Amino acid sequence: MLSIENIEVVYDEVIYAVKGVSVKVPDGQIVTLLGPNGAGKTSILRAMSGILKSREGEITGGNIFLDGQSIAGHPPEKVRRAGIYLIPEGGGLFEDLTVEENLRLGLLHSRGDQADGLGKAWEWFPVLQQRAWVRAGYLSGGEQQMLALARALLARPKVLMLDEPSLGLAPLIVDELFGFIRKINEEEGISILLIEQNARRALAIASYGYIMENGKIVLDAPAGELLQDKEVKEFYLGFGQGSKRRSYRDVKHYKRTKRWLS
Ligand SMILES: Nc1ncnc2c1ncn2[C@@H]1O[C@H](COP(=O)(O)OP(=O)(O)OP(=O)(O)O)[C@@H](O)[C@H]1O
Ligand SMILES: [Mg+2]
Repeated sequence: MLSIENIEVVYDEVIYAVKGVSVKVPDGQIVTLLGPNGAGKTSILRAMSGILKSREGEITGGNIFLDGQSIAGHPPEKVRRAGIYLIPEGGGLFEDLTVEENLRLGLLHSRGDQADGLGKAWEWFPVLQQRAWVRAGYLSGGEQQMLALARALLARPKVLMLDEPSLGLAPLIVDELFGFIRKINEEEGISILLIEQNARRALAIASYGYIMENGKIVLDAPAGELLQDKEVKEFYLGFGQGSKRRSYRDVKHYKRTKRWLS
């Protein structure tokens, strides 16, 4: 179990990006963290993967545990060896290297047996094997996300964290990609923390969801309940009258105004 407990993240000593957030990812589950731009989602992933320092950020409070062991403040290699793997926004690929070279680099950091080679990646994504010699930068957006997933699989993590994998992809490609994420969870038993702005799709594959705003969790519940929740439905999933998609932030603003007027 991955357990984030009351974590706080500050940039440049004055910018409070995450203000006491707790999130649990039980073994073998998919948990999603949703929220609008600037909510602090990526900052939480950075805190977990040990890459905050390189962004002038630091954890100023709280703790992060993997299977009961604290990993807060540990350097990136140590976190990865413990079994936490981050696919950053955009996939984090080496665009000038080929598909195969990207995978070989992934294998170097594997917690599993390197002798298994790239077999697992090709097995999961035959389309990548056909394009083994293509530079990653020339792949389509969907193929790049698949390559990032394949590389993560080779690392054999316990917990895989994905930062907005659907960003910029066409709806059909997102369906395919989310199908792979679900399958990786089911067949490899890897727990998943999925960061998304695409709430509907993320809640469809997750068992539990958290909604974050301005550095805090504003709502959390089983994914099925969030999908049915009147406010989430109306304002976050875009089912509201007028049917114009609004962010949760708009909702609060709207509610605040209303309360203030009444
Ligand atoms: N390196 C940084 N230095 C200073 N402030 C930062 C830095 N990175 C993020 N922030 C600020 O921290 C807050 C949270 O940012 P973060 O990137 O975690 O949000 P997010 O939820 O991932 O947003 P998005 O959906 O746009 O990716 C924002 O106000 C952002 O401007
Ligand atoms: Mg982000």
